[in-house]
Amino acid sequence: MSEEFQDKAKQYREMGKTAFIIGYTGECGKELVKALSKNRIFNKVVLIGRRKVDLTPDPGPEFVRDFVYRKVIDYDKLEEYTEAFQGAQVGYCCLGTTRGKAGKEGFIKVDRDYVLKSAEIAKSTGCQHFSVVTASSANKDSMFLYVKTKGEVEHSLKQMAFDKLSIFKPAMLLCERSERRIMEKVALTFMKPWICMFPTAGSVPTSYVGTAMVVDTVTPSEGNLRIYNNEQIHSVFKQNEQKK
Ligand SMILES: NC(=O)c1ccc[n+]([C@@H]2O[C@H](COP(=O)([O-])OP(=O)(O)OC[C@H]3O[C@@H](n4cnc5c(N)ncnc54)[C@H](OP(=O)(O)O)[C@@H]3O)[C@@H](O)[C@H]2O)c1
Repeated sequence: MSEEFQDKAKQYREMGKTAFIIGYTGECGKELVKALSKNRIFNKVVLIGRRKVDLTPDPGPEFVRDFVYRKVIDYDKLEEYTEAFQGAQVGYCCLGTTRGKAGKEGFIKVDRDYVLKSAEIAKSTGCQHFSVVTASSANKDSMFLYVKTKGEVEHSLKQMAFDKLSIFKPAMLLCERSERRIMEKVALTFMKPWICMFPTAGSVPTSYVGTAMVVDTVTPSEGNLRIYNNEQIHSVFKQNEQKK
């Protein structure tokens, strides 16, 4: 990472903060865990999920032994698990499902209701900075379910008055997805020539998202809202990852 990032990370680390991550088993979530494991900007990172998962690759024995706690919660009873969020000044959200997998109601429940409920609980337990992955197309006034749901999430989070709210709006995510998603594979096949010609326009590797979330965390903000579109996620990654 760049020297500038290292300096900021060092200062941030000295504050001894705690973070939680929801959706840490997903593709963006796993990259966020990797980036946090590499840069160690927190004293403690609480990994919140609905199932027990062995992290592969392991973020490192020190990371696991010293300050990672894995919490397994039932998202339908989130209010019973406020203790999982307690003490975290920073909250990361990489939750999400698909309509194909969860149906319309299930998609809304995970992508909107769980995200907003988690954010509310986090706010009530002292979270100052909430950082979330939504989508480039988010628009609360759209008639399309996906776009509308993501837009509603962004809109509601903005009303919650976190000290700092960071919204990451990737276009198509590029990764070796562990889950089979046929429609995503088909779309990717058709988009390949376009992705090669315009790499920052319509897609972004999940590793860039994870790194950009960490860079944003240590970067002091002027206002309380930071929004990163697809191109900005690319440029934050490149500015910070490539300079030696
Ligand atoms: N796919 C794309 O190209 C694309 C583009 C732009 C934006 N996005 C958005 O970016 C975000 C991250 O995407 P991703 O591809 O990294 O996500 P992902 O790999 O699908 O992972 C989603 C995470 O949400 C959790 N989750 C799903 N259903 C759940 C449920 N019913 N209860 C509790 N947890 C649940 C998963 O837990 P388990 O591991 O336990 O299932 C996992 O940790 C999502 O909001 C997505 O909509 C995606």
